[in-house]
Amino acid sequence: MLQQHIVWLTSLALMAFVASGFVFVVLNSGMREDDYAPLVKHAYRLRTRLFWGLVMVFGPAMIYTLADLPYDVSRAENEAGPVQIVEAVGYQWRWELSHDHVAKDRPVEFRVTSADVNHGFGIYNADMRLIAQTQAMPGYTNIIRHTFRDEGTYKILCLEYCGLAHHNMVAEIQVGDL
Ligand code: CUA
Repeated sequence: MLQQHIVWLTSLALMAFVASGFVFVVLNSGMREDDYAPLVKHAYRLRTRLFWGLVMVFGPAMIYTLADLPYDVSRAENEAGPVQIVEAVGYQWRWELSHDHVAKDRPVEFRVTSADVNHGFGIYNADMRLIAQTQAMPGYTNIIRHTFRDEGTYKILCLEYCGLAHHNMVAEIQVGDL
């Protein structure tokens, strides 16, 4: 929630910045051409400063976000125990899972596809928080790997509107000791 709030405030600030740029242009649009020379020089200086400002903001941000690589997909392979495989097929309007029980603390590989149209394969925990998701596409198998850390009932919901009974595309998967 806090993150969303920060992102929202940042977007607001940026939007205000862009809007003030427009206002600045409108207010100064009455000038003659030779009035522009100092303005152009000023703009170039501003551009250079803005460029380095962006480098200084996005450079560290990029390093910070990329430091997490490789993501869970490849990390899961190094965990104890063999990978558990669940084949998941989306239909209008239901999910077909090859297994609906998996063990916790061992990586699960979901091989997700669709028999008809595009669906979204979203795994939710008991608090209905989305913990992993991929697309279910006809003629293509998407793979996601996830290691469940908590026992309980997880839900699989369709994340892409796929017709009248889209909301009925709910399946459950039990995580526990096998
Ligand atoms: Cu399948 Cu929405």
